[in-house]
Amino acid sequence: MDSIPANRRLWNRISGTYQRKHDPRIGAAPRLWGMYSIPDAHLGALGDVTGKRVLELGCGAGQWSRALAAEGATVVGIDLSESQLDAAKRAMGVTGATRHPLVQGAAEQLPFAAGSFDLVFCDFGGLSWAPPHLVVPQAARVLARGGRLVFNVASPWFEVCYDEAAARVTTTLQKDYFGLDAVAEGDGATSYQLTYGDWVRVLRGAGLVIDDLIEARPGPGTPNGYNETDPPDWAHRWPAELLWTTHKP
Ligand SMILES: C[S@@+](CC[C@H](N)C(=O)[O-])C[C@H]1O[C@@H](n2cnc3c(N)ncnc32)[C@H](O)[C@@H]1O
Repeated sequence: MDSIPANRRLWNRISGTYQRKHDPRIGAAPRLWGMYSIPDAHLGALGDVTGKRVLELGCGAGQWSRALAAEGATVVGIDLSESQLDAAKRAMGVTGATRHPLVQGAAEQLPFAAGSFDLVFCDFGGLSWAPPHLVVPQAARVLARGGRLVFNVASPWFEVCYDEAAARVTTTLQKDYFGLDAVAEGDGATSYQLTYGDWVRVLRGAGLVIDDLIEARPGPGTPNGYNETDPPDWAHRWPAELLWTTHKP
């Protein structure tokens, strides 16, 4: 299924509201992962990026990209939505932060030559909003040998416990685990979710080596910046996110 046009429309429509609500938290400090803003310093997923060629898939307003560029990486941010990219451009202007190229395009059709990057990564970006069985081989293609694909997505636990009607994560199973794939986001827009087994098969099928699966655990009472959860410390008890670290041998 081609979700590119509908996802582009969705993100163009919600970009303003999304950035007003979430940008202060996402950009509160460099390298904060996911819905609970867990510092990469605690998780050690990305490592030193100095001098590395880095691609962020679905960079949004570019909070991550700017942080890595400021650390000395050569960063490219790609995103489907021109409104999101405008937000990234504005942020570069406002903060005077290190400038880096922004490219409009789809994670499942990367417009880069093979072997162009040492690190491809995202945080609820292209691996959440484009079909992983298309994006992972593209990411593997544009990685140089020894390069890494690192990405953070919602966990299957989070997805199957999400109660659509109540718009909150619960402690009961709300939907089937087997068959997790496309998640309708309205008007044809789609996000994607895989089972653990499907993630392993998609990553290995693209020739990547899985180095780690980090299940970040926020402390009790850590707020979720995006979703209502019941109980509030849901993610202290169950893994809400999967942070995969892989490399191309
Ligand atoms: C939740 S944001 C992730 C960016 C940032 N990490 C954040 O948390 O705001 C999702 C981003 O993915 C982008 N996106 C959606 N579908 C995409 C696709 N097929 N290819 C590239 N980017 C896409 C959206 O435009 C949006 O900017």
